Amino acid sequence: MAKADRLIYACTACGAQHSKWAGQCGDCGEWNSLQEVRPSLAGNAAVKRPTGYAGESSITKLVDVDLVENERCSTGVTELDRVLGGGLVTGSVVLLGGDPGIGKSTLLIQAMAALTARMPSLYITGEESLQQVAMRAKRLGLPIDDLQVLAETCVERIIDLCRISKPKVLVIDSIQTVFSEAVSSAPGTVSQVRESAAQLVRFAKQSGTALFLVGHVTKEGTLAGPRVLEHMVDTVLYFESEAGSRYRAIRAVKNRFGAVNELGVFAMTEEGLKQVSNPSAIFLSRHSEPVPGSVVMVTREGSRPLLVEVQALVDESHSGHPRRVAVGLDQNRLTLLLAVLHKHTGVAMHDQDVFVNVVGGVRVSETASDLPLLMAALSSLRERPLPGDLIAFGEVGLAGEVRPVQAGEDRLGEAVKHGFTRAIVPTANKPRKSINGLTVIAIDRLDQLPDAMSEVS
Ligand code: TYD
Ligand code: MG
Repeated sequence: MAKADRLIYACTACGAQHSKWAGQCGDCGEWNSLQEVRPSLAGNAAVKRPTGYAGESSITKLVDVDLVENERCSTGVTELDRVLGGGLVTGSVVLLGGDPGIGKSTLLIQAMAALTARMPSLYITGEESLQQVAMRAKRLGLPIDDLQVLAETCVERIIDLCRISKPKVLVIDSIQTVFSEAVSSAPGTVSQVRESAAQLVRFAKQSGTALFLVGHVTKEGTLAGPRVLEHMVDTVLYFESEAGSRYRAIRAVKNRFGAVNELGVFAMTEEGLKQVSNPSAIFLSRHSEPVPGSVVMVTREGSRPLLVEVQALVDESHSGHPRRVAVGLDQNRLTLLLAVLHKHTGVAMHDQDVFVNVVGGVRVSETASDLPLLMAALSSLRERPLPGDLIAFGEVGLAGEVRPVQAGEDRLGEAVKHGFTRAIVPTANKPRKSINGLTVIAIDRLDQLPDAMSEVS
């Protein structure tokens, strides 16, 4: 076979190319993802290679680089600004991923409508017709007098039109529908997504346009090549929601201009996405009477404290292997903590099934949940409810020590805001100045926990 005709194998997840087929992609480790492509269709072979994304190239010293403070501009949606790291940066490229139907188009049309009065914005739709976009915007009552729209999927034509109309903010909804004439495979394939995104990113960097790319990608990356895009863009935002819940969260998983793991919370309503500027308490279930096995903890998502309820059910086990089940918390950590509890307080649960759960489908991945988890388990074991005005947080070490967690005062402040009046926390997190309306019980060893709990109940 002539050299140019030799087949190569491209990974559908990451776009890497291999000369031989294999069951697993050597680059990203994905199984069964290699597909046969002709080099001329592979998207990078015969196609002209443009220069880098970031403009003219010449070698300079790092100290000589002009520091231009990245200009930020509010999108008009505070929760979106928060995950972007404090507003939209000019010339930055943001990938907004998420399941179909979660609200990506709704969010961006709302943000564009709010932005357009301050800077020319262009919303390009490849999925819905202009009528559909207009109907939604009208129904939501958005101020869209100046918002420009375009229904187009050819990336070369998009860029040509943008060079003329010079928008400062550009939305591509979605990148999977866009295609480049330079690549002959179908829209939505890895090579198309990569080539179209590369051209758009280059255009954004050269022209200083802020660019939003919408991608129908789940976290597992089931659709064409999210990983291909992740390294090309400055910021990766994922839209998440619990099945059946009307709450939506946007999480920054990569951000060159701000902190990651920042969370923006919205509720999907009849009138579009509404910001939940104070999400702290939406995950609490308020019991009319205190119940055994329930403790409220203050966790942190990004830079923001969040009140969540940790529940435990401890019940006599009827099998030889008592069960340890954790939902929203780390299962191994649960086993470890129960061992520490036994060793240092003598409370044994080896003949008990222990189930723990974080209410509202939240996942708590930080160690601040150690202390509340053990308190919930103890409370359930003894059938003694803890008072409803109590919060707790703290890490527990193997030596039975109760260790501080970061931002203790922030957490306590949040608890006070929501009417909590008592707290059991690590000694090192006890605020130096007492907080009005809050009684803090500080412990530094786990063996002080049972006493601290009897003191409050
Ligand atoms: P959409 O933004 O089209 O999702 P995506 O672009 O991520 O695919 O959101 C569509 C869903 O949101 C749809 O199931 C209906 C719901 N929705 C509302 O509940 N209220 C509204 O005001 C709007 C515009 C959509
Ligand atoms: Mg959409």
